[in-house]
Amino acid sequence: MKVRKAIFPVAGLGTRFLPATKSSPKEMLALIDKPLVQYVVEEAVASGIEQIIFVTGRTKRAIEDHFDSSPELENHLAEKGKDDTLQAVRELSDMVDIYYVRQKKALGLGHAILCARDFIGNEPFAVLLGDDIIDAPTPCLKQLLDVYEHYKGSVLALEQVPHEQISSYGCVAVNRITDRVMEVTDMVEKPQPAEAPSDLAIIGRYLLTPAIFPILAQQQPGRGGEIQLTDAIKRLSHDEAVYGCLFEGQRHDCGDKLGFLKATVDLALKRDEFKDDFAAYLRHRLC
Ligand code: G1P
Repeated sequence: MKVRKAIFPVAGLGTRFLPATKSSPKEMLALIDKPLVQYVVEEAVASGIEQIIFVTGRTKRAIEDHFDSSPELENHLAEKGKDDTLQAVRELSDMVDIYYVRQKKALGLGHAILCARDFIGNEPFAVLLGDDIIDAPTPCLKQLLDVYEHYKGSVLALEQVPHEQISSYGCVAVNRITDRVMEVTDMVEKPQPAEAPSDLAIIGRYLLTPAIFPILAQQQPGRGGEIQLTDAIKRLSHDEAVYGCLFEGQRHDCGDKLGFLKATVDLALKRDEFKDDFAAYLRHRLC
């Protein structure tokens, strides 16, 4: 069955970026001139997703406004003859069908996914986490979809991370099938490095079958007292095969200040409009 729908869990408080995120969502922090969430929505659309549901919380209204039409702004841009900007603003509100549901309590990522159950129904679906911005020739989610179409099972994006960093991620044990595709045999949410079954981390892109929902509905709190998606996928893997995909592309961890800064520099150096000036500036600063 074609994957048409995606869940974006965006109810998190963004405490790592306080005070910037006190009254505006961390998903709206801008990398150059686009909010983080727009990069991820564009990846989903470029991968063929037709409908998105944001699982939001209080203080997240700015995300809804960002993807809504804005007649006043559009009139103003039209009057000023700013046609390119006008087109960019219009494309944003026409890009994809977007729906919203509230996660009323911060009970964890697994619980956030469960909040979108009625919207997803009995279809396979994608989950995209906004902290991970992935710059790739083929969109990361599209790479996962290709694996899904071939193997017909849930697929997780994986990346090898430095051993000491594995405690920040869901970690998997695998049996390799090809260089990039593997079957997941075990999963642990944020293990201590000494207990980690590998250095393969789950990155914020998932394709899941709807069989995950009854499992999530029964899932007990795990790491941090939260209902963990990782724990539910581990149980899913006992019933049906779950695959991992070592995707091609550069991931930026924008949930972290240093990662966010690096992403800004990398993306700026790729933009024609200022890459030469910016590179010259960085060289000057560093010598
Ligand atoms: C979540 C997941 C974790 C995954 C990570 C990827 O953790 O629980 O398994 O590795 O996203 O970004 P979070 O970063 O939300 O704490």
